[in-house]
Amino acid sequence: MNTITIIGSINLDTTLRVKDMPKPGETIHAIEHFTAGGGKGANQAVAAKRSDANTFFIGAVGNDGAGSMMTDLMSQEEIDMTGVATLDNESTGQAFIMVDNHGENSIMIYSGANNTFTPEHVEKSSDLIKKSDFVIAQFESAIDSTIEAFKIARANGVKTILNPAPALENVPEELLKVTDMIIPNETETEILTGIEVTDEASLKEAADHLHGLGIEAVIITIGSKGAFFDVNGKNGIVPAFKVKAVDTTAAGDTFIGTMSSILKPDFSNLEEAILYGNKASSLTVQRFGAQPSIPFKKELV
Ligand code: RIB
Ligand code: NA
Repeated sequence: MNTITIIGSINLDTTLRVKDMPKPGETIHAIEHFTAGGGKGANQAVAAKRSDANTFFIGAVGNDGAGSMMTDLMSQEEIDMTGVATLDNESTGQAFIMVDNHGENSIMIYSGANNTFTPEHVEKSSDLIKKSDFVIAQFESAIDSTIEAFKIARANGVKTILNPAPALENVPEELLKVTDMIIPNETETEILTGIEVTDEASLKEAADHLHGLGIEAVIITIGSKGAFFDVNGKNGIVPAFKVKAVDTTAAGDTFIGTMSSILKPDFSNLEEAILYGNKASSLTVQRFGAQPSIPFKKELV
């Protein structure tokens, strides 16, 4: 089983279920309200750990109730939290999520502590990175710290996986240079490459563009259609499982964490790993909430 370091965000999610999304200026009643563990980084860590990867986390929370709740939740999952700082001057990250009756969501995040932890803090956790098969990052936390983590990984032969989400206009070249695998969705792909992905030919064209930046392996997630991959001269689409989605929150995070738990560092079993990730995210979308909806290994066999 792989050892994985996730560097990234920890959020407390507050979700409102609504019949339809409110229009600007409109006030509506929510059907249901709940809070749950979230944050792209934390969700990916929970997915990796629940599919049995040895999982380390590097990040930060504020010195507040949300922070202790989130670190308690993740420690109960037996994720190693020694790389998580508690910062006095910032609050824990928060996400405010609306989910409508069609399973569509919209999310606002306040990054707080996620954006404040420093490269020095990452250096202190460099032993975790060195012990890993993969280091995984997203775009919900301080980018300088992510670059530092990927550089430490690269210097020690540890493979790096970047999930460029949520979309960022100007991705530092310095980061892409030390990225071994990239996993964008369709929108993020278009922002990164300028290529609108509409069919297999344009997916391949976008993947080639990303290879041109020095990135060895590309997976482009294409929602309910599954995932396109391009690595070692092989490409294709691994279709998604057909299910009825009630809440897609954390579907992408589940895919990444679960897939990485069995991925070989030379990417030789990529199709098998994608299929495994697709299976996991097909369960996540059928349940409400981020972390509560992420499946355990026993559900994936
Ligand atoms: O990817 C889903 C996550 O995005 C949610 O858990 C929320 O915290 C936002 O960061
Ligand atoms: Na979900």
